[in-house]
Order: sequence, then C-alpha cells, then structure tokens
Amino acid sequence: MSPGTAGAKACKLFSAIIAITSLRGTCAEPVHITGIWFNPMRWSHFILLQCLLVVIVGGIVYIHKDRVTVIKTPPASLAQWYKPENKRQVWLHTMFKLRREMQAVQFYADNKDAKHLEKWVALLSEHYLKTGEMVPEWQKKLNMEAITDLQESASSHRYQDVSHALDDLSESCEACHKDYRAITATMYRAPDFSLMEISPSILLEAHMEELTRQVNQIKIAFEDGMKDLALSSLSDLEQGINTLGETCSTCHKKDTKVYPDDTINTTISSLGESLRTGTLKDQGRELGTLAVLACARCHGTHRIAYDTRQLFVDRQSWVELIKH
Ligand code: HEC
Ligand code: HEC
Ligand code: HEC
Repeated sequence: MSPGTAGAKACKLFSAIIAITSLRGTCAEPVHITGIWFNPMRWSHFILLQCLLVVIVGGIVYIHKDRVTVIKTPPASLAQWYKPENKRQVWLHTMFKLRREMQAVQFYADNKDAKHLEKWVALLSEHYLKTGEMVPEWQKKLNMEAITDLQESASSHRYQDVSHALDDLSESCEACHKDYRAITATMYRAPDFSLMEISPSILLEAHMEELTRQVNQIKIAFEDGMKDLALSSLSDLEQGINTLGETCSTCHKKDTKVYPDDTINTTISSLGESLRTGTLKDQGRELGTLAVLACARCHGTHRIAYDTRQLFVDRQSWVELIKH
C-alpha cells in the first residue's frame, strides 16, 4: 500500500469517527448533574467510539499477525552485565558457572560423595540466587523450592532426591533460555559495525558498497570482453580487501592475519591469471570462489549477527511496522 492510499484511507476513517461522534442526541433530554450538563446520548456515542477504536486496533494487529513476530526482550538491567557497561560478560560467565556446578552436583550425587556434593551445592545455590539479584525483574523466574530441596537432599544424603531437584532446577533454566537466550546473545554480544570506520570517515557500510561494485564491475567487464577494465577493477578490489583486513585485528587480536589469508591471496592471483588468459567459465569460477572466501564467509558470521542485532537494538516503531 503506497503512503498516498494509506493516508487517504486513514483520512476517510477519521472523518467517519468524527461524523459519528458529532451526532447530537435529539431523543434524550440533557440531565443536569451537580452543575455539569450531561447528555446521555453523547455518553453512548463515547462508548461506541471506544468500542470502534478497540475493533480497529484489534483488526490491525490481526491483519498483520502473519507478518509480525512478537519477541520478548530482556530487561534493561541486564545491560550492566555486558560490554560496554561492564568490562566482562558477567552474565554469560555466571551461566557457565551454573552449568559446571550442575554437572558437579550430578557427578557427586551419582558417586555418593557427600563432602564434595555439599561444596558444589553451595556454589550452585549461591550463583543461581545471584542471577536474581543481578536482574531483579527475573527473580520470579527462579525456582526457589528446587534450591531448598537440593540443599536439604544433599545435607541428608538423599542422593536420588538430589537428582530430582536438579531436574526441577533445570526446567527453570530452560524456561528462561527459551525466551531470552538467543535475543540476549544477539543484542549484547554480536559485534557492532555501525560506527566502524574502515579508513578516515569511510564507514564499513560505504566500504561494502564499494567492494560489491568492484566485484560486479569485474564480472560485467570480462563478460563483455573488456580485459583491462576487469584487471584494474580486480586491483581496486584487492586494495579494498586489504584495507578492510586492517580492521579485523581490532577484535581478532590472537589470530595472526585473519583477512585476507593465503587462500584468498592465491585466489586473487589465479583470478588475475584467468582474466588475462582463461576462458569465461574459468573467470566466472574464480570470481565465485573469491566472493565466497573473501565476502560470504565473513557475512555468514558478522553480517547475519549484526543485521539481527540492529533489528532489536534499533527497533522499528509500530507506525513503521504497520506501514510495511
Ligand atoms: C567483517 C567481515 C566482512 C567482510 C570480509 C565482508 N563484509 Fe560485507 N558486510 C559486513 C557487514 C557487518 C555488513 C552489514 C553492514 C551494514 O549493513 O551496515 C556487510 C554488508 C555488506 C553489503 C550491504 C551493504 C549495504 O548497503 O547495506 C554488501 C553489498 C557487502 N557487504 C559486500 C561485501 C563484499 C562484496 C565483500 C567481499 C569483497 C564483503 N562484503 C566482505 C561484513 C563483511
Ligand atoms: C532468568 C533467566 C535465566 C535463567 C533462570 C537461567 N539462564 Fe542461562 N542464560 C540466560 C541468558 C539470557 C543466556 C544468554 C547469555 C548470552 O548468550 O550472553 C543464558 C545462557 C546460558 C548458557 C550459555 C549458553 C551456551 O550454550 O553457550 C548456559 C551454559 C546457561 N545459560 C546455563 C544455565 C543454567 C545451568 C541455568 C539453571 C541452573 C540457567 N542457565 C538459568 C538466562 C537464564
Ligand atoms: C567488533 C569486533 C570484530 C571485528 C572488527 C571483526 N570481528 Fe570477526 N568475530 C568477532 C567475534 C566476537 C567473533 C566470534 C563469533 C561471534 O561472537 O560473532 C568473530 C568471528 C568471526 C568469524 C567466524 C569464526 C571464525 O573465526 O571463522 C569470521 C569468519 C570472522 N569473524 C571474520 C572477520 C573478518 C574477516 C573481519 C575483518 C574484515 C572481522 N571478523 C572483524 C569480532 C569481530
């Protein structure tokens, strides 16, 4: 629906509402209540208008139900346990502890080792309760009864009951994960490229557009027999790839040289070779290989994660969603 027709429809709808509400009651006499003129007919119109609004809003939501996904977002208080508000990913590391502690508790219950069991039950309880302090909005998602059961069964050496309590606890882990794990990882851990400059005042997005133009220029030029243009575009692309590569090390510190690696460099050379002397088929194949190695591989991780992150971080407004 174009904005023009949407506007016209909204306008008609609005006029209809105005028309209904501006009808004057003729059959009922106004009633005087403590100094206010009160018209019963207008009240019924008011209620009618409310119902109409509910129906309209409900209708809009219903019409869009196949095209809108409702996702629960984590409470804002979670942000303090992630970068940049925190130096470390504290929440995630607390989760790793919980998983390890669950494993240890199960292990020592199976081995009927009371001493170690008690140590790990104490750690598990401490960190499980801590999650509720870290994000108070999630306190109600914790299963306190399971923790009490766990502690009591462990201290009275009822190893079978320890296992049952762990199962109950595990259900509370899974219930929260089902709603919040993926979205939390995406919102707080997917690398953000929005402000990343590839060279002074050139943002990543602009650089990407440049790279893709060069890839396509190579293809257009060799298909139409313009060898020199194909080769000069390849040389520009190679330069663009090298410039892009300098940004990787800001995060990929431990990798020696992630991008472009030897395989990418070899592919660039063999594409150059086939642009000079190869067949159209060779050229197409080499270019395809280069695009997979130098573009698609990184997109598979970074672009998908970054685009998804943007969906949640820069959430579209309802107005935008409805317009779409
Ligand atoms: C960091 C790894 C990485 C590599 C390597 C990479 N890209 Fe990207 N690319 C991204 C990210 C992240 C985005 C999303 C950027 C955005 O939308 O702001 C993106 C977006 C794009 C876009 C869409 C730009 C737009 O207008 O939204 C194109 C086209 C593109 N890349 C082409 C390429 C080509 C061609 C190559 C290989 C020569 C390449 N990319 C290599 C990460 C990468
Ligand atoms: C109230 C919500 C909540 C509860 C309860 C919860 N978690 Fe989590 N958990 C999360 C969120 C959110 C993430 C995603 C964190 C991220 O990826 O940065 C997560 C991630 C994890 C991860 C990392 C996932 C992976 O495979 O890399 C593990 C392990 C984990 N939780 C274990 C547990 C265990 C064990 C329990 C129960 C004893 C538990 N969690 C209870 C919210 C919860
Ligand atoms: C803002 C930080 C950041 C930058 C910049 C960055 N990466 Fe990454 N990259 C990560 C993180 C973190 C991971 C681990 C997976 C994840 O959490 O998304 C990763 C994972 C990857 C992976 C998948 C795992 C692997 O090692 O094969 C590839 C491929 C990759 N990055 C390529 C690149 C390339 C190429 C560049 C530069 C053009 C780049 N990255 C720049 C942070 C970054």
